[in-house]
Amino acid sequence: MRPISDFIGDLPKAELHLHIEGTLEPEMVFELAERNRVRLRHRSPEELRAAYDFNSLQEFLDLYYQGMGVLHTEDDFCDLTLAYMRRAAADSVRHAEIFFDPQAHASRGVPFPVVLDGIAEGLRRAERELGVTSRLILCFLRDRDAAEAMATLEVALPYCDRIVGVGLDSAEVGHPPSKFREVFARARAEGFLAVAHAGEEGPPAYVAEALDVLGAVRIDHGVRAAEDRALVRRLAAEAVPLTVCPLSNLRLAVYDSLDKHPLRRLAEAGVPVTINSDDPPYFGGYINDNYRAVQETFGFSRDELAGFARASFAASFLDPADKARHIAEVDAYLATG
Ligand code: ADE
Ligand code: ZN
Repeated sequence: MRPISDFIGDLPKAELHLHIEGTLEPEMVFELAERNRVRLRHRSPEELRAAYDFNSLQEFLDLYYQGMGVLHTEDDFCDLTLAYMRRAAADSVRHAEIFFDPQAHASRGVPFPVVLDGIAEGLRRAERELGVTSRLILCFLRDRDAAEAMATLEVALPYCDRIVGVGLDSAEVGHPPSKFREVFARARAEGFLAVAHAGEEGPPAYVAEALDVLGAVRIDHGVRAAEDRALVRRLAAEAVPLTVCPLSNLRLAVYDSLDKHPLRRLAEAGVPVTINSDDPPYFGGYINDNYRAVQETFGFSRDELAGFARASFAASFLDPADKARHIAEVDAYLATG
């Protein structure tokens, strides 16, 4: 039988928690900085990578927003997106649901259509070249005010056919989901699906609020829900998927070692957990690195790993027929792999 690491390598899967701006490899930061004549604080890609040593979400966010300052043109966003999709395809990702942060670009003078058209072109080429499908999720920055989020939603409305949903990211603590009640109500009324980062650094109560106040149908991270037994029972009973990012949680010091991570406990409690990568170069791993890290820590079997892959398609925003087709591919792979 093949090593389990190879089994993970070829296991068909969906990525449901990925910030496109967080896929900037240090080498690409330098390439785009030269193309766009942006001055950088670090002297080399190696020096920049060495700075990816965080003690909190905020320390990461400071570098994340700085790094995306090299993205200016439609081509930049297209190149970034295509580079990620090629890397994802190499990890047997068949479908990716991708966050983008338009406010972080508008505030630097990069207009919404430049960002969206560039990313959408990268996704189109990826589907043609690699057969990997995708959806886009517009995230609001929760550490800015709700009026700015509402204005961003208004700007995005003419492009709603290219955006499946809205999400909530950036610094969590002190910025509860309820701050964005009206924005999410409007977005849902316009036909967007709702997701939200909650229970990453913030308390379990933010997870419940994201469900009750924002109408979120999927929770990004959600790991701190494990601290509240009634909430875990609710997530299982209502089959609310969590998009968990183990290496991100480790690198942002949510847990000081992976054996303290609640992934296995949540899965065993019946919560539909999925495994994802968040911001891969910043956190030291793409999606298969995340699968391999939790397999090594928790000793997951091939069956259990296939279960996470099935859950990723089931929790996606694909049509039922596409979900069933991908899940059948996982089943066939498990039978032979
Ligand atoms: N933006 C990019 N990555 C993020 C994360 N892990 N949490 C919150 N906001 C983010
Ligand atoms: Zn995230």
